[in-house]
Amino acid sequence: MPTAPARLVVLASGAGSTLQALLDACEDPSYGARVVAVGADRDGIEALARAARSGVETFVVRVEDAGSRAEWDAAMATAVSARDPDVVVLAGFMKLLGASYLPRLGARTVNTHPALSPAFPGMHGPADALAYGVKITGCTLFVIDQGVDTGPIVAQAAVAVAEDDTARTLHARIKVAERALLVDSIGRMAREGFAIEGRQVRFGR
Ligand code: GAR
Repeated sequence: MPTAPARLVVLASGAGSTLQALLDACEDPSYGARVVAVGADRDGIEALARAARSGVETFVVRVEDAGSRAEWDAAMATAVSARDPDVVVLAGFMKLLGASYLPRLGARTVNTHPALSPAFPGMHGPADALAYGVKITGCTLFVIDQGVDTGPIVAQAAVAVAEDDTARTLHARIKVAERALLVDSIGRMAREGFAIEGRQVRFGR
């Protein structure tokens, strides 16, 4: 019996090139997942336009409308839960999810970070890696927890730093690796399932 495709909710804050890679992958029925909704913490971003062009439902939950950061977190948890996701993908989502969100959805929410965790957490992974002088950096897909880019790791890919790299050129190359890693890993999570035991994330049921 064919099983229904896994339901993905994607949260984004920006250009949405990572979201686009998932939307493109989901065009193939054998991928095993479909994006049922795209949520954002702000209006007018290209990620929302990409979703709309693909006919995917969008929603926006803004801190300014919620009253406080805690109320925003609860409102986002409610909005995401209402779409009944199997997996939530943070694809360039620039806010930390907190005390309301994590118990409800944290174990099924993955984030992609443009550095090789545990090195260089935070908002400036490529620039921080360049400033440190590392020769290899990359990207990390992880299950979120209460920390900043600290959750159990699903997958990583390495990217070599070039001598003439700027933060922008390095991040652009990391994003190419990031899109491939995300598409591969989310497809496996959708088709095979996944389990989290302590810090270990394994595919399979
Ligand atoms: C990606 O490189 C992602 O890892 C990063 O933002 C970019 C999103 O690009 N996310 C973070 O740094 C989260 N802390 P996009 O908007 O083109 O998908």
